[in-house]
Amino acid sequence: MRQNKSVYIKTFGCQMNVYDSERMGESLAEAGYGTTEDMAAADLIILNTCHIREKADDKVYSDLGRIREIKDQRRSEGLETVVTVAGCVAQAEGSEIIARAPFVDLVVGPQSYHKLPDLLFRAKSEHRRLVETSFPENEKFAQLPERPARQARSASAFLTVQEGCDKFCTFCVVPYTRGAEYSRSVSDVVAEAQRLVAGGVREITLLGQNVNAYHGTDGAGAPATLAGLVRRLAEIEGLERIRYTTSHPRDMNDDLIRAHAEVGKLMPYLHLPFQAGADRILAAMNRKHTAAGYRAIVKRIRDARPDLALSTDIIVGFPGESEDEFAETLGMVREVGFAAAYTFKYSPRPGTPAATMDGQLDEEVKIERLARLQEVLEAAHEAFNARAVGQTLPVLFERPARQDGQIVGRTPYLQHVSVKGDPALVGQILPVEILAAQPYSLSGSLAAA
Ligand code: SAH
Ligand code: SF4
Ligand code: F3S
Repeated sequence: MRQNKSVYIKTFGCQMNVYDSERMGESLAEAGYGTTEDMAAADLIILNTCHIREKADDKVYSDLGRIREIKDQRRSEGLETVVTVAGCVAQAEGSEIIARAPFVDLVVGPQSYHKLPDLLFRAKSEHRRLVETSFPENEKFAQLPERPARQARSASAFLTVQEGCDKFCTFCVVPYTRGAEYSRSVSDVVAEAQRLVAGGVREITLLGQNVNAYHGTDGAGAPATLAGLVRRLAEIEGLERIRYTTSHPRDMNDDLIRAHAEVGKLMPYLHLPFQAGADRILAAMNRKHTAAGYRAIVKRIRDARPDLALSTDIIVGFPGESEDEFAETLGMVREVGFAAAYTFKYSPRPGTPAATMDGQLDEEVKIERLARLQEVLEAAHEAFNARAVGQTLPVLFERPARQDGQIVGRTPYLQHVSVKGDPALVGQILPVEILAAQPYSLSGSLAAA
C-alpha cells in the first residue's frame, strides 16, 4: 500500500490504550497512513486520551493548545492537519471537546476505532467535525482488520481480551468510558496470539479492565474462564511467557489460582489492586471485598505459587479517610510486601458517586499521605530487588540499552535487568546471574546456559 500520509499517535493512560493505539496505527496503515514520531510533520494527529484522574484530563487540553499552534503553522504553509481526540476523554466529554477546542476535527470513543478510516474520510468530504461515541454492540474487535503477522517491534506484546467494567467502584470513570464488560472469544484471542508469535513475540500480556472476569466462549460455544484461556494459549509453540492485568480481587477464583501452580508459562507475577486497607473505606468505594478478604486471596495464591510477586494500586485520601484508616493502608503494604505499586491521590471525577460524598480531603492531606505511603513502598521494592542478588534468573531480552554494549530484559517478576551482551540476543530468554540491585533495576551477567 502506498503511504502518502502520516499519522502521529500520542498515548495516555493504561496499557489498554497502548494496545488500542497499535491497532489504530495498523488500521490506518491499511488506509495509507505511515506513522511519524514528529507531531509537527503529521497530516493526522491522534491523542488517545485517559480520563481516570483530573491530571490526565488536563494533559490532554495542554497538548491541544500546542496542536492548535502546529495546525495554524502548517495551514500557513498550505498543509492540512486533521486533529482527532480518541480514548476515554473522547468518550466522557464527546462534543464538549469540540466546543472547547474548535480546531479538533474528530472525536472518537474507544468502541469505535474500527470506524476511524471511514470517519476521517467523512469528516473531510463532508467538511464537518464528527463525534462518534456510541457503544455499538461489541463490533470493534470483529471489524478491526486482522493483525498483520509482521515482524514484532518487541518480544513482548499486549493483547486485549476483555474490555469494560460492571463493578462501578464509586471513584472510577471506567464503567462510563469503556462500557459494560465484554470478552473476546477464545478462538479470536488464540488466532491473534498465533500471529504475534509468528512475528517473533515470546511474551504476551493479556489485558482487560477486569481481565480475570474474562468470560469468552470457547470453540464449542461454551463459556471459558481466564484460566481456560491461559491454558489454551500455553499450548502455542514459541510463546514462552503469559501474563495478565488488571485483576480484581473478587474475580480471583480457584481455577485461576490453580493455573498459577500448574502452568509453567504463566509468570509468577500478579497485579492485584487493593485500593485501601480499611473496611469502611473499601465499602464506601464499593470494592465489595474486605481487607481480610484481600489477605486471604494473597495467602491462597502464595500457597499455590510461593515465589509469586505482587503489585497493586492504592488510592490515598478517599473522602472521609481518617488518619487511622490510612494507617490500615500502610499496615497492608508492610504486611504483604509488594514488589511494585501504583499510588494515587484520590481525584474527584465528574459523574462518579464519590465526587459528591461528604468529607472530601484537602490536597495537603493527600500529598502528605501519598509521600508516607511511597516511602514504605520504596523500602519494600528495594528489599524485593535486593533479594534477587545472587540468584540466576531467566531474562527475556527486549531491547539494546542506552549504554553501548548493554541489553535490557525482564525477569519473571518484571524486574528490569541489564547485562553486557550482543544486541542479536534480543528476543531470547537466557539465564542471568544477578550481581547488583539499583533502586529500579537489576544488573548482572549472562550465565552459562
Ligand atoms: N480495573 C482496575 C483499575 C483501573 S483504573 C481495578 O479495578 O483495579 C487504575 C487505577 O487508577 C485504579 O486501580 C485506582 O487505583 C486508580 N484510580 C481510579 N480512579 C481514580 C480516582 N478517581 N482517583 C485516584 N485514583 C483513581
Ligand atoms: Fe474502575 Fe473499579 Fe471497574 Fe476497576 S473495578 S475499572 S477501579 S470501576
Ligand atoms: Fe484511562 Fe481509560 Fe485506561 S480512563 S486508565 S485510558 S481505561
